[in-house]
Amino acid sequence: MRHLLDTRTLDRETALRILDVAEDMAETQSRQVKKLPTLLGKTVVNLFFEDSTRTRISFEAAAKRLSADVINFAAKGSSVSKGESLKDTAQTLQAMGADAVVVRHSASGAPQTLATSGWISAGVVNAGDGTHEHPTQALLDAFTIRKRHFGADSRGRDLSGMRIVIVGDVLHSRVARSNVWLLTTLGAHVTLVTPPTLIPQNVSLWPVTVRYDLDQALAEGPDAVMMLRIQMERMHAAFFPNEREYTRLWGLDAVRVAGLPETSIVMHPGPMNRGLEISSEAADSAASTVLEQVANGVSIRMAVLYLLLAGERNDDEGVAQ
Ligand code: CP
Repeated sequence: MRHLLDTRTLDRETALRILDVAEDMAETQSRQVKKLPTLLGKTVVNLFFEDSTRTRISFEAAAKRLSADVINFAAKGSSVSKGESLKDTAQTLQAMGADAVVVRHSASGAPQTLATSGWISAGVVNAGDGTHEHPTQALLDAFTIRKRHFGADSRGRDLSGMRIVIVGDVLHSRVARSNVWLLTTLGAHVTLVTPPTLIPQNVSLWPVTVRYDLDQALAEGPDAVMMLRIQMERMHAAFFPNEREYTRLWGLDAVRVAGLPETSIVMHPGPMNRGLEISSEAADSAASTVLEQVANGVSIRMAVLYLLLAGERNDDEGVAQ
C-alpha cells in the first residue's frame, strides 16, 4: 500500500486486508503487548490543519505502539499563520525525515495533492479532507460493525446483507461519504436519512437508498444506525433553520433506540452534539459503540501504518491502495 487517500477507490480485497491486519493488532493489544518493534526507525508526521481529538491522538498512539517516532504538527501556532504553503510545510517535514504523513485539511483533495504532486516521497494517509473523505473513520466503523456482528469469526468476512442507516448532515460529512463507499464495497446496504436540505445534489449517483423519515427507516430494523455530527462550522443558515425541529425529526433518543432490534448498534464518529443529533441516553445506551469505535480506531490506524511502512510496497499502485 503506497497511500490511503479514500475509500471510493479502495477495492474489497485491500479493505478486508486492512480489517484483518487490524484484528491482529487488536489481538496483540488485548494480550497486553503494548508495543511492537515493527516500525522502529520510521517517522510518522501528523500534519493537522484542522482540529481533531480522536484521529490525531489515535494515529499517534498507533504509531507509538508500532515503535515509530511521531512528530505532531498543528497549523495553529505554526508558520502556516505567516502564510507558509502546504507544499513548503510538507517539504519541511519531509526534510526532517518523515516516512509517512497523516494529513487533515479543510480543503477537499489536499491529501491527494500531497500524494501525487511529487513534492514529497512519504506515504500519505488522509485523516479527513474538507467534505470529501475520512477513510480511516470508515474502516474503523466497518471493523466495529463486523466485530459486533461476527465476534471472533470476523476475519475474512465482509458485510454482505447487512443494513446500515446513516442519519443526519450528509451534505457536509466526509465520514458519510467514506462509509457509503466502503460499506457498499463490503456488501452492505446503506440507507441515508437526512433533511432534504442536507443531502448532496449528486446523491442519485451514490449506491444508496435515500429517505427523509427516520422512524420509517428505523422500523425496518437496521443492523447499525450511524448518527452524523451536525457540522455547524460548515453550515449555511438556510440548510438548518431550527435545532428543536431537527432533534424531533432526525435526532436519536432513548425511545427510538428502544424500538430497534436487540442486536442493532448505535454509532457516532464523534465529536457528538449531545441533545442535538443524539441524546445522552442514546449515546450512553447499551447499544452504543461510540467508545468501541474509538478503541478500534487505534487498531485500524496501526494496520494502515503497518501496511504503508512495513507491508509490501508497490510504487506503481494507484493512489488509494
Ligand atoms: N471522528 C473524528 O474524526 O473525530 P476528531 O475530529 O476528534 O478526529
